[in-house]
Amino acid sequence: MKTTQTRLAAIAALTSGAFAITCDKDSLQSAFSSIATVDFAQWLPANSTFTVPKTDIAYPVSPTQLRAACAVQVSVKNGTSNYGFGVFLPDDWNGRFLAVGNGGFAGGINWLDMAAGLGYGNAVMSTDTGHNSVSSNGTWAYNNEGAVLDWGYRAMHGSVVLAKELTTAYYSNKILYSYYSGCSTGGRQGLKNLQLFPEDFDGVVAGAPAWWTKHLQPWTSKVGSYNLPNTSAHHIPPSLFPVIGAEVIRQCDGADGVVDTIVSDPNACDFQPDFLLCTPNKTTSCLTSPQLDTLHQIYSDYVDTNQTFVFPHLWMGSEAQWVPLLAGLTNQPNNLGPDYVKYFLGRGPQWQWQDFDYGVIQQADVQDPGNATADDFDLSPFLARGGKLLHYHGMSDGLIPTGSSVYLHSQILRTLAPKGISLDSFYRFFLVPGMQHCAGTPSTVNAPWYFAGANQAAGLSSSAYGVPGFRDAKHDVLLAMMDWVEKGVAPNEIVATKWVNDTLQDKVMRQRPLCMFPKKQKWSGKGDVNAANTWSCE
Ligand SMILES: *[C@@H]1O[C@H](CO)[C@@H](O)[C@H](O)[C@H]1NC(C)=O
Ligand SMILES: *[C@@H]1O[C@H](CO)[C@@H](O)[C@H](O)[C@H]1NC(C)=O
Ligand SMILES: *[C@@H]1O[C@H](CO)[C@@H](O)[C@H](O)[C@H]1NC(C)=O
Ligand SMILES: *[C@@H]1O[C@H](CO)[C@@H](O)[C@H](O)[C@H]1NC(C)=O
Ligand SMILES: *[C@@H]1O[C@H](CO)[C@@H](O)[C@H](O)[C@H]1NC(C)=O
Ligand SMILES: *[C@@H]1O[C@H](CO)[C@@H](O)[C@H](O)[C@H]1NC(C)=O
Ligand SMILES: *[C@@H]1O[C@H](CO)[C@@H](O)[C@H](O)[C@H]1NC(C)=O
Ligand SMILES: *[C@@H]1O[C@H](CO)[C@@H](O)[C@H](O)[C@H]1NC(C)=O
Repeated sequence: MKTTQTRLAAIAALTSGAFAITCDKDSLQSAFSSIATVDFAQWLPANSTFTVPKTDIAYPVSPTQLRAACAVQVSVKNGTSNYGFGVFLPDDWNGRFLAVGNGGFAGGINWLDMAAGLGYGNAVMSTDTGHNSVSSNGTWAYNNEGAVLDWGYRAMHGSVVLAKELTTAYYSNKILYSYYSGCSTGGRQGLKNLQLFPEDFDGVVAGAPAWWTKHLQPWTSKVGSYNLPNTSAHHIPPSLFPVIGAEVIRQCDGADGVVDTIVSDPNACDFQPDFLLCTPNKTTSCLTSPQLDTLHQIYSDYVDTNQTFVFPHLWMGSEAQWVPLLAGLTNQPNNLGPDYVKYFLGRGPQWQWQDFDYGVIQQADVQDPGNATADDFDLSPFLARGGKLLHYHGMSDGLIPTGSSVYLHSQILRTLAPKGISLDSFYRFFLVPGMQHCAGTPSTVNAPWYFAGANQAAGLSSSAYGVPGFRDAKHDVLLAMMDWVEKGVAPNEIVATKWVNDTLQDKVMRQRPLCMFPKKQKWSGKGDVNAANTWSCE
């Protein structure tokens, strides 16, 4: 029985170079061993919309105006491992394989981010990580070790292995190069995967990685608790977050040499929070003394017993993104904190944020549920197989402290430099001034933040991919990675773009080079401050 889809697929196969198997369930199933089942296959003509299945609650947005491709969804049962993944197989394939990542505790196939990868002509895969939930809901993890391991690393690796088999069978051709691009949990997934399975990818792009899971998630509960309960005298209401953010810009913007609303060197700023103090002459848009104590905690590293460094603080400049972790609207920390303690560490639903103590950290250090933490700093196996790593982090990130990426970079340096390995030869790290978590910039800041990192295209539109108007390795982090892997041209800078309204077909407002850490952006002092070529990295 030939459906219209199958016939269309057969025609596509004939016109674009005879695929070994066609875009239908049975044909694709023949590519797999018994552990994998093809749920559906759907051929999409050029410019169509892929309608995301209603069950995919984590990634509900349907990508539009797609390149002609075969969309496939697969379910896998492998011992205690149980997950699914989606694949886009373009008619006009460029020979490359790309895997994209997930976010928070989410379980679901990230079709929208896959579409951004499809735009280039890659075969693209996203795993559902082995369960179905939105990003901030961790209840699925309770007494569910198999699912936690799948989320930790198993589903990604298994999905990569099987999606590569499917891609090879579909085109009856070898994959030329394999890449990964993910942010947040997606950044962690990329790092974890290259640490455990260095063969999987030639190049990994990891944004704002949630790599230190066993400390990050408890810290999320801890930092939220600083501003609770929401009725206390020390509570800073979210209406004051913009006031604090504006004061940070007032005091710190110029520390980098240019007054442009972008705080690109917060550590060079001697911030004096007492300027925010309420006085008889200043009774609104100000903080009381107890509130200033809370602000001090938010801007301080979490250090516990015996001066043990547990987790770095949120950076100045992140205030515009404080609502999710700090607003206290439900009088609780964000679920990403307590849910980890309750359901991953198994303390149970009765555990409350008020019960937090150092024992939580000690337990997490011993258990590291799902082996999720990506803290094997010896990346030499990945180097040895010729792998390349690009890592970036927004300096205005209000969800994962920017310092956790700086700390990661330092740990990798301290592990590899004594062995005589130069990080620059295979691992480069870029800070993004004014960028929030993975994407975006506050409307009061307007920093160049777009370089086609994971999740960024979705911020422009459901049909965007790459850097519209600047489709080259200078402006696009994925193309930069491809040039590095395929031509040996390593990126020293990546030019980030800010459009006026962050939409497609929009005017460029500013462009500026992102610098390879520890270099910093420096303006020449001449010409248009909003043009990338008036800046250098020093
Ligand atoms: C692609 O689809 C969009 C609607 O999704 C439509 O506006 C546009 O004209 C189409 N383009 C082509 C080339 O068919
Ligand atoms: C979290 O997921 C569980 C299990 O699917 C569901 O019962 C619960 O309502 C969800 N909680 C929230 C806050 O969405
Ligand atoms: C299946 O499970 C085995 C044993 O845990 C593991 O080595 C293998 O990578 C898994 N394969 C896939 C495709 O998930
Ligand atoms: C407060 O305002 C009054 C009246 O404008 C002024 O005389 C006084 O100096 C101000 N006090 C401070 C501490 O600025
Ligand atoms: C702190 O240090 C003391 C003295 O070395 C040691 O006995 C104790 O176990 C340490 N506490 C923790 C929680 O590591
Ligand atoms: C405090 O939390 C409660 C929920 O317990 C909520 O109803 C209330 O709106 C919150 N108040 C503020 C000021 O955020
Ligand atoms: C978790 O990681 C540890 C240390 O690398 C390893 O010994 C253990 O086998 C891993 N467990 C699983 C289930 O992968
Ligand atoms: C940006 O959006 C504003 C308000 O929606 C609109 O007035 C303006 O024309 C837009 N600018 C551009 C360059 O698209």
